[in-house]
Amino acid sequence: MNILGIESSCDETAAAVVSEGRTILSNIVASQVELHARYGGIVPEVASRQHLIAILPTLERALAEARVSWQDLSAVAVTMGPGLAGSLLVGVNLAKALALAHDLPLVGVNHLEGHIYANWLAPDPPPTFPLVCLIVSGGHTDLVLMQGHGQYRLLGRTRDDAAGEAFDKVARILGLGYPGGPAVERAARGVAPTYRLPRPWLKGSHDFSFSGLKTAALHLAREESIYPPMANPSRELKQRALELAASFQEAVVDVLVAKTVEVALEHQANQVLLAGGVAANALLRESLLRRSPVPCRIPSLALCTDNAAMIAACAYFRLGSSKHDWALEVAPNLKLA
Ligand code: KG4
Ligand code: ZN
Repeated sequence: MNILGIESSCDETAAAVVSEGRTILSNIVASQVELHARYGGIVPEVASRQHLIAILPTLERALAEARVSWQDLSAVAVTMGPGLAGSLLVGVNLAKALALAHDLPLVGVNHLEGHIYANWLAPDPPPTFPLVCLIVSGGHTDLVLMQGHGQYRLLGRTRDDAAGEAFDKVARILGLGYPGGPAVERAARGVAPTYRLPRPWLKGSHDFSFSGLKTAALHLAREESIYPPMANPSRELKQRALELAASFQEAVVDVLVAKTVEVALEHQANQVLLAGGVAANALLRESLLRRSPVPCRIPSLALCTDNAAMIAACAYFRLGSSKHDWALEVAPNLKLA
């Protein structure tokens, strides 16, 4: 069974074809990063207009690379939320039109659920339940217990900034550029985390909070004359910014990993999964692999950030329960159950 996946929830226009929920036949991502870089963040109106321009060429490439025709497809899957309303509308309306024209089932997929299913897109044996998944993206930081396909229990979430959002904001404070997560990671590579930043543990809860840590980084940056960033900083100032980036990254990773390990033990999980854009972070990947008490799976780098293969994979495991969902609405604030 081949499923066409479409993803347009934020700033990547993506289409993919996945066979049997696990084998990628094509996975095309048209990134808008350069377009938004000049504004230092995503401009929603610009994003929706760019999705309109990019979506048909992206779809055509995905079908051509997979070498499939419409007769070879069994369903169309599309991200219905959470995300930017204008961006979501582009993908959802295209998916509806395609499903109607080719008489295929239409499956609406939760973007966060899609991120989890990136872990099924590997040749290894599939993940086994019960499992705990840490989803870390630009908008979410969720710890989820999964007892079976489609069975989720939210065990912890962020009370303020998401992990990716905190990376993006601290990158801006340190003048490291956009997108912030990869910029902080590059800056921190091989640099000693010399600054002591707080670890927001929120004892007795599996929730996260990163806004205090971000503010602590801002205060330190001011004290050390790193912020506001200068046009031509001295070598010493540049070095201080790198050390602060490394210290911030270490603090975030420390909290994310410790809480995931705690939850995995408490719920006797068989496996730990990592998902979402921040899962591309090398320190987070290494630390979780090293400290997880049970086998840990992490998608390849390209499958951590937004893509449509994960949306098609998720739909495969859900197809029995939803068909021809013509009433499908975009849901910008959709949450995992
Ligand atoms: O999942 P994603 O691609 O989009 C959303 O669903 O939000 O995640 C994007 C987030 C951004 O905040 C970006 O800065 C962060 O993931 N990110 C990273 C890295 N690569 C992307 N954060 C830390 N280290 C990275 N290497
Ligand atoms: Zn995402």
